[in-house]
Parts: sequence; structure tokens; C-alpha cells
Amino acid sequence: MQKLRKKHQVLLDDSVRVRAYERALKTIVQPGDIVADLGCGLGILSFIAARAGAARIHAVEVEPRTLALAREEAKLAGLEERVVFHEGLVQNIDIPERVDVVVTETMGSLGLDENIVPLILDAKKYWLKDGGTICPCRIAIALVPIDATINYRGAVVVIDSVEEACFLATPYESDPLDLMSTTEQDFVVRPRFTMTRSGLLSGFAGWFTVWLTEKISFSSAPHCTDTHWHQRLLPLREPIAVKEGQQLDVILGIGPDDSGLQSIVEYDFTLS
Ligand SMILES: C[S@@+](CC[C@H](N)C(=O)[O-])C[C@H]1O[C@@H](n2cnc3c(N)ncnc32)[C@H](O)[C@@H]1O
Repeated sequence: MQKLRKKHQVLLDDSVRVRAYERALKTIVQPGDIVADLGCGLGILSFIAARAGAARIHAVEVEPRTLALAREEAKLAGLEERVVFHEGLVQNIDIPERVDVVVTETMGSLGLDENIVPLILDAKKYWLKDGGTICPCRIAIALVPIDATINYRGAVVVIDSVEEACFLATPYESDPLDLMSTTEQDFVVRPRFTMTRSGLLSGFAGWFTVWLTEKISFSSAPHCTDTHWHQRLLPLREPIAVKEGQQLDVILGIGPDDSGLQSIVEYDFTLS
């Protein structure tokens, strides 16, 4: 349990993340609202919604030990009457009523790589009232080719830090994906980069910007205040020499995996 608590403490200590969700939920949740918190972890977003006036929050968590801790936290906060916990995958849970607000923080370091899109599609179909609100509402992803020393520690790929000094081109930013209107599970972008200097292409660094409301957003870009996400690294097995002015066409796809919890991220490129 200690290990689990520690894992979630990292999320709770990420003040960029927590403050943004706090501000957003205070704006979105109206007194008496019914809210769904998809992937509630230790319940922080449910508790924020309760404090913003929600009458009832349906909090769903697939990990049983995490849910047990969340129940304890709800008791400590005196919110056990208003937070209704459900154990299991969001995709397998039925609740007896539709909700005014769906909130989730199931974002990976590349924003869309922790299965948030399929979750939101499911929530729109089965959970949300007509005219209800989804938080977050938009996510954009960014990618840049980098020249950096990459260390392979088993399956884990590490670089010291993603800094502008290792960029080989101007970062690409996707159009924001509108989570309210999207109907597609798969997300594909095809950025084209022109190398701004020669170097060794060792992979790509990626990050995201998320809008929790139209006006409340934050970014995990390297030039922004650091978050627990840092940046995602998409490495090449072997670095490739590139020259200033060369063009790099990339295809990046993100789609659901079979677990219902993670995403498959695939990327390929051609250099000309
Ligand atoms: C990044 S954590 C966020 C936890 C909490 N909402 C917070 O903001 O601190 C995501 C949580 O969602 C849970 N989760 C992810 N996908 C889920 C799914 N499809 N159904 C239920 N729980 C899920 C994970 O087990 C994890 O505890």
C-alpha cells in the first residue's frame, strides 16, 4: 500500500495539474450537479467536485487497492455520503443516472497515450446528459526530432532532459483534438520537419497541451513549469545522421490497446 500511495502522491504533488483541475472544476461544477470521475485514483478530483457543490460523484477506479485507499480518503474528508465508488473498468460499469459533468485525468506524457479518447467516447455515449460538460475538452500534442544521448535501461528509455539545445527542428504542434465532438478512437498526425541544423537524429520528444475549459489550460512542454509527465521520448534504436535543410516526414498514430487502460503509440518516418 505504501508503494501505491507513493505513486499517487507524485500526482497529488504536481501542483500545475492539481491547481488547473481545481480552477476548472470550480468553474464547471454547479451546486447539485451529478459528476463522474473516470479513473479516480485516490479521489482528488471527486473531492474537488464535491467541494464545488456536486450533489453526487460517481468515482470509478479499476485498481482495487487504489479504490480502497480512495474510500479511506473519502471517509477522512467526510465525503463518503456523496462520493459513490465503483470498482472496475469504466467501459464495464453501469451507473443508474446520467451525469452533468465527466471529469478524467487519464493522460500520458503524450496526452492521448493513456487511453483518454476511448474513455471519453464511452462516457459521451453512456454517462453524459445531453448538454453536459467534459473536462478536459481539448488536447493537442507536440513532437520534435532530437539529438540526445539515449540510455536504454532494460525496457526503460531515458535521457537526462529535453532541452531546446537538442532540438533538430522547430517543434510541431497538432491542432487541438476536440474531445466533445470527436468520434474516432484513433489519432493520427503527419508532421513534416525541416532540419534547422545537422546532427544525429536519436528519436523524438513529445508533450501535450490540455484545455480543461475553454480558458483553463496547461502544457507539459519543456519550456513550461515541469509536471510529473515531463516529456515522452520516442527513440530510434540507432541514431541517424541528418543534415540541415533535410526534410523529415513523420507519421505518428495513437490508438487503444486491448487492456482498455493504455494506448499503442506507433511512429515511422522518411528522410529526404
Ligand atoms: C493518472 S491516474 C489519476 C488519478 C486521479 N484522478 C488523480 O487525478 O489523481 C489515472 C487512474 O485511472 C485509473 N484508470 C485508468 N483507466 C481506467 C479505466 N478505463 N477504468 C477505470 N479506471 C481507470 C488508473 O488505475 C489510475 O488510478
